[in-house]
Amino acid sequence: MSNATSPSKEVQLSAATHHACVVGMGWGDEGKGKIVDLLAGEFDVVVRFNGGANAGHTVRIGSDSFALHLLPSGVLRDKAVSVIGPGVVVDPVALVEEIEGLESRGIDLSGRLMISDRAHLVMPYHKLEDRLRDSGAQGKKIGTTAKGIGPCYAEKMLRSSAFRMVDLVHLERQAERLKAVCDRKRAILTAMGADDASLAGGEVEFEQIRATLESTRQKLSRFVAETTAWLDDAVCKGRQLLFESANGMLLDIDHGTFPYVTASHTGLNGVPAGAGVSPHLVRRCVGVSKAYATRVGNGPFPSELMDERGERIREVGREYGTTTGRARRCGWLDAVSLRQTKLLGGVTEIAMMHMDTLSGMDEVGICTGYHLRGETLRSIPADAEDYAAVEPEFEMLPGWKDDVSGVTQFDALPAEARQYVQRVEELVGAPITMVSVGPERNQTIHRS
Ligand code: IMP
Repeated sequence: MSNATSPSKEVQLSAATHHACVVGMGWGDEGKGKIVDLLAGEFDVVVRFNGGANAGHTVRIGSDSFALHLLPSGVLRDKAVSVIGPGVVVDPVALVEEIEGLESRGIDLSGRLMISDRAHLVMPYHKLEDRLRDSGAQGKKIGTTAKGIGPCYAEKMLRSSAFRMVDLVHLERQAERLKAVCDRKRAILTAMGADDASLAGGEVEFEQIRATLESTRQKLSRFVAETTAWLDDAVCKGRQLLFESANGMLLDIDHGTFPYVTASHTGLNGVPAGAGVSPHLVRRCVGVSKAYATRVGNGPFPSELMDERGERIREVGREYGTTTGRARRCGWLDAVSLRQTKLLGGVTEIAMMHMDTLSGMDEVGICTGYHLRGETLRSIPADAEDYAAVEPEFEMLPGWKDDVSGVTQFDALPAEARQYVQRVEELVGAPITMVSVGPERNQTIHRS
């Protein structure tokens, strides 16, 4: 584990305007991975600050496709250092698999990856608990990714039974506590309905868990560091930091569509605590949204298309989960929720993804308002049942026929596509500075 010195505040402030954050403006899967990968070329450090292996970022480089879950998308740029911050929950087994997967493709992370010693560990029993809780027998079925995210964050809040990366590094000091926690977990999970068959994977077996942790310890220890002081030092030296959010603002634990949300802060609100930096550091925040909306898992989705138009978007846009393979629900872009996430996520500009997917549709819709029991709502209601009952209002715009996947200049887009982008800007109230027309890095229209 490494340590670093602390710089002066004056130097931090002078560098403040260079840093940026990328957040999702919907229910995840907006295409943040591509935007982070694109921007990462201009940054020295890419930092993940929330979530865990529930996230799924696909980055296409030429004919190669990389599916990343825990590693920041910046790992595919050789100059950037990637940091997994204290607010991330790390499944050590999944992380080792991801690192080895990249190594087998010739990508060496030595000296380019740091994992905070404060980051919490997702343990095997968290994943089982996630499955049991989300079976529907324990309350509302959220439709989680079953990666143990909620139970791990809950354990973190409980504190006494939680394990962190620093504990993995000093595993020998944790044996007694780990044994006690495993015994307790067996009783709790059995009371929750786990039978011998569901415990057969060794989720609460002390010896098995210790052996698994020991093998991940050998692989991960060299990356574990005191990242907070290191980031402070990097800022002082004028390095530019890019913060990469996992999941989306509508999944934020406090501001999302509760209870159908994830367990972390997913916008700029999550950066100071989850990365360990000053709240005044980041001024530029790129909100990523598709040209339409998608959602995986349960929960209300007012602009959802339950007809062949939704199916068409799913097939053309390849809307199947990177993490779970689940088919995503698809619908029209929702300007009401985007206005809300622009505000809460601290968004200063928007990257609009998958413009090519909408080509060929006769008309394209934008949800411009919600009505509930005769009232017009200004924002998403707190009660999920109310949200499920809202009547969406749509504005329909003419679609565009031409394939736009080769377009590189905004002016070269069909007039209808330009009109669509400009109308979304007006309705949401933020400039759309990037329009993505395909998965490749060069399939991106940059607007000033
Ligand atoms: P969890 O994060 O696994 O607890 O899942 C909670 C909710 O967030 C479920 O509806 C998941 O489908 C959703 N979710 C979590 N991460 C992502 C993501 O990266 N993309 C899309 N949905 C996600």
